[in-house]
Amino acid sequence: MTQDELKTLVGQAALNYVEPGSIVGVGTGSTVNKFIDALAGIKHTLAGAVSSSVESTDRLQALGIRVFDAADVEELAVYIDGADEIDHAGYMIKGGGAALTREKIVAAQSRKFVCIADESKWVATLGHYPLPVEIIPMATRRIVREFAALGGSATVRLKNGKPLLTDNGQHILDVTGLKISDPLAFECRVNQWPGVVTVGVFALHKASVCLLGTASGVKTLTF
Ligand code: A5P
Repeated sequence: MTQDELKTLVGQAALNYVEPGSIVGVGTGSTVNKFIDALAGIKHTLAGAVSSSVESTDRLQALGIRVFDAADVEELAVYIDGADEIDHAGYMIKGGGAALTREKIVAAQSRKFVCIADESKWVATLGHYPLPVEIIPMATRRIVREFAALGGSATVRLKNGKPLLTDNGQHILDVTGLKISDPLAFECRVNQWPGVVTVGVFALHKASVCLLGTASGVKTLTF
C-alpha cells in the first residue's frame, strides 16, 4: 500500500471513535484530511466539530459540518489528529503543518487523543523529525541560542522567502539535531523559556490511542 492509502485507512478507522451526537475534535494535516473526508459520510450523526486550524475549519465547513469555537465548548470526548513522530509511550512530535498551538489547546480539552499515522511516523526516540516550536518573533535569537546549548540547530520556517506566519500571527522555529530521550522533561523545560508559545513535543498531552497504518492493516496501540 502507498503512504496515501495508509493515511486513508487510518482516517476511516478513526470514525469508530466518534460518538454519535457529539462534537469531535479535529486536527490538521494530510492524514486528518482523510479523516475529514470520511467524516462527511457520518456528518448527519454529528453535532459538529472543534478544529485546530483555519485549514481544517475550511474543509469541515465545505462539507457542511458545523464548526464550534473551542472557547464555547467545555470538553470534547475525543480529539483525532496526526503526528510527525510517535513513540512507544504515545509521546509525539507535532507541528509540521504549523498548527501545533491550536492542536495542543484542543488536545488539552479532550478526554481522549486518537493519533492517526502511517507507520513511517513510528520511532524509537523522538527527534529525527525537525522539532517545530511556535515563538514570539522578538525572542528568536535567544531561543535559537537556548537550543544550540542543547545541541540543536534552529532555523525560522519560511514561506515565499519570508517567515511563515502561524494562524496566531507568530513564527515557527524548526530544530534539528535533538535526541529527545525524556519528552516530558524536555517539554516542561522548553515551555519555560520566555517567548516560546508552544513546543511541538506532545508529552503532557500525549496520545491515548494510536491507529497505525501498516502493510498488514491498522494496528491499534493504547498507551
Ligand atoms: C500539523 O501541525 C501537524 O501537527 C500534523 O498533525 C502533522 O504534521 C502530521 O501531518 P501529516 O498527517 O500531513 O503527516
